[in-house]
Amino acid sequence: MLKPDACIFDLDGVIVETSDAHFKAWRRLAESLGISFGEEFNEQLKGVSRRKSIEKILALDGRKLPEEEIQRLMDKKNGWYQDAIAELAPDDILEGVPEFLEVLQEMEIPIGIGSSSKNAQYIIDYLQLNDTFEVIIDGTKVENTKPDPEVFLKGAKALNSDPSKTIVFEDAASGVEAANNGRFISVGVGSEEYLGDADLVIPDFIGLTPEKLFKKLSDK
Ligand code: G6P
Ligand code: MG
Repeated sequence: MLKPDACIFDLDGVIVETSDAHFKAWRRLAESLGISFGEEFNEQLKGVSRRKSIEKILALDGRKLPEEEIQRLMDKKNGWYQDAIAELAPDDILEGVPEFLEVLQEMEIPIGIGSSSKNAQYIIDYLQLNDTFEVIIDGTKVENTKPDPEVFLKGAKALNSDPSKTIVFEDAASGVEAANNGRFISVGVGSEEYLGDADLVIPDFIGLTPEKLFKKLSDK
């Protein structure tokens, strides 16, 4: 592939490292309930909605809670998470990402965000990226969480791009699956261990140019 129609980026773990703040807030909540989990289980929480995450945590020990209690716990976790991300600033954008986005813009390739998070707009504001992305589809705009492809399909529609010619960048296994389910070109950002189903896995954006990436994809 020489030039895609568009590129859609997941936010958490791709543009900025917020995954650890999610992990710590969920772990703190789980521990308050007497449930423990580690990094391996946390991989299953990446990319999925707040609701789905708490369901997965409660399922760890077969816990059933009334709806109001589930709501209260989600709010508690979100409060801790929001406190943890409140200091984010443009410097926190992951290394190599600004240069990569800049070249895509120079090449006139439309770019968008496809995130499950209902906090995405806050993060975009903190990072001052509002003028960078043409389209932002986040957790407030979708009904079905990844691995459902809804978030990326809505993104592609808004960017006027054909999924088969649109690259999706994802750090979560559920996100790679969502991209594959929507017949996008999937690029996993992180480790092959969790993202092996992606069309291509890159460790990060450091030193990567769009041209190099497109060449790697077309060589596959
Ligand atoms: C992202 C993160 C998930 C998080 C989800 C919902 O996809 O990777 O860990 O659960 O967003 O985030 P929210 O900010 O709405 O709780
Ligand atoms: Mg992510």
